[in-house]
Amino acid sequence: MRRFAVVGHRAMSKGKLPLNDLASGAGRMDVLIRALMAGLMTSHGLRKDSVVVLHLLGGPGPPRRIKFDGETLKGLHADERSIAGTIGKVIATPLPPIGHWQPITAGISHSGGGLDFTLQEWQDGTTVLLDAEAPRLWKPKAMLLANGKASERTVNFVLSDDQPLGDVATDDVVIRSLGDQWLQGHMAIGVVHFLLDEDVELNL
Ligand SMILES: C[S@@+](CC[C@H](N)C(=O)[O-])C[C@H]1O[C@@H](n2cnc3c(N)ncnc32)[C@H](O)[C@@H]1O
Repeated sequence: MRRFAVVGHRAMSKGKLPLNDLASGAGRMDVLIRALMAGLMTSHGLRKDSVVVLHLLGGPGPPRRIKFDGETLKGLHADERSIAGTIGKVIATPLPPIGHWQPITAGISHSGGGLDFTLQEWQDGTTVLLDAEAPRLWKPKAMLLANGKASERTVNFVLSDDQPLGDVATDDVVIRSLGDQWLQGHMAIGVVHFLLDEDVELNL
């Protein structure tokens, strides 16, 4: 199982999403949608073992989280505008209380709360903050784990949008890099999938 928490610092959490202005008026929602697609989609299908939680922190009002669970998700198409339409319907819905995941459609639910709540809910896995300026995510001279061990474990990855992630309580997390070069978030997710798909021995 792989889970991706994506933090949208300015992403709209409520109201009428401007579908023609996702990059600016919607608070870099385009970045979150690309991350969502990278987290869940293969060329022609969905990754059943992947979950993406988008964190919409930009208001108005309190933060909202939208969860997309590849195991049960249906009807998500690799089309930025159609996904934006889905997100638009969610943020037009009253915000559920923190910790209550209210279903929207198959595989999509939403809740109040921010990243700290997601990390509390994901304590059954190892949490990795992705940061270019950290030790590498894979072991030096990493071996391929022939027995598929890497894909069996639950690993949570935390990414930010175009802004630095900011403070996260780092007691139970490790900070790891995918290389010195800062990448777009969706490309970073693609690299993570590659490493896990190939069962590369991780440095966790
Ligand atoms: C566009 S980057 C954010 C860059 C932003 N200026 C910053 O300072 O954090 C989006 C996210 O992708 C992930 N990321 C990008 N490049 C990475 C790398 N080389 N190693 C690890 N994570 C990376 C990080 O989680 C980052 O928050």
